[in-house]
Amino acid sequence: MRVAIFGATGMLGKALLHQWIGDDVTGIGSAQADIRNPDQVRTAIEHSKPDWIVLAAAYTDVDGCEINPTLASSVNTHAAVNVAKAADRAGSKLLFVSTDYVFDGKKNSPYETDDPRNPINAYGRSKADAEEKLAQVLPDCCIVRTSWLFGPGGKCFPDTILKVASSRKEIEVVNDQRGCPTYTMDLADAIIQLCRSGAKGIVHATNAGDCTWFDFAKETLRQAGVSTTVKPTTSDKYVRPAERPKYSVLSPASLNACSIKMRPWQETLPDYLAERGRSHAELASSLSNRA
Ligand SMILES: NC(=O)c1ccc[n+]([C@@H]2O[C@H](COP(=O)([O-])OP(=O)(O)OC[C@H]3O[C@@H](n4cnc5c(N)ncnc54)[C@H](OP(=O)(O)O)[C@@H]3O)[C@@H](O)[C@H]2O)c1
Repeated sequence: MRVAIFGATGMLGKALLHQWIGDDVTGIGSAQADIRNPDQVRTAIEHSKPDWIVLAAAYTDVDGCEINPTLASSVNTHAAVNVAKAADRAGSKLLFVSTDYVFDGKKNSPYETDDPRNPINAYGRSKADAEEKLAQVLPDCCIVRTSWLFGPGGKCFPDTILKVASSRKEIEVVNDQRGCPTYTMDLADAIIQLCRSGAKGIVHATNAGDCTWFDFAKETLRQAGVSTTVKPTTSDKYVRPAERPKYSVLSPASLNACSIKMRPWQETLPDYLAERGRSHAELASSLSNRA
């Protein structure tokens, strides 16, 4: 099978390239093709002739999207449609990576795939609009909604917490947003399985279990052996440009229906911490070699 990954230089894209063994995989970053440019998208697809396209490229800065909603819809909606149209012309299947932020967070039980979209920020709106438009261009496309991604080679929550905690005795973390932390390597494995099984429609793919950012921070520091105290706080004390849903837990039912089960998020942290330690050691050694 031939596969093209748009967004290959991002956190999830790197995990997909790392995990995807046994197929002919081409990674495409924005330097190879800006997905806002239909010609560049078409050329990249004609070049790689993929059976499957994974669209992991996006403008993912949630507060940046709120400040610049035109850029958000240009990259996350209109450019996604460019990729879908090119996929349609080339006869390629498409898997689009979407987000829990298409929901408003007003539920208090896990979101199912047929729950209505009702985004409360510009990032969520741009992805929800893309989902609707993609389903019109390519009714058989697969939309994988995920959440709270973390992994090596990207700016992510546990990395930030570990950096902040390294110089403080006590930190405050919000305890009033609940979601599902998801390790990029595990999500990559699920995406690979979905493509290999010819999945269609909306699938929710996250690691099992849910927590608040406070719980996530506490567990990260506990497993890393860092003694910094974590205190719970509320989002109103940390006002940011974009509002976040209070509850965006995604139900695993659609993933389980594809015969895929993802492990609890707590079990992924040792793998993440080992990878993070390795990349920090490599960076330190390359800097000392240069000195
Ligand atoms: N991060 C999360 O917590 C989270 C949660 C739910 C869903 N998601 C979704 O998961 C997917 C992957 O997220 P991520 O965190 O791995 O993203 P990321 O690390 O921010 O990487 C974004 C990727 O998109 C590419 N990109 C951005 N603008 C582009 C453009 N105009 N043309 C071509 N490529 C462009 C970037 O390419 P260059 O680096 O080469 O510029 C990069 O490869 C996204 O669809 C995101 O919406 C993420």
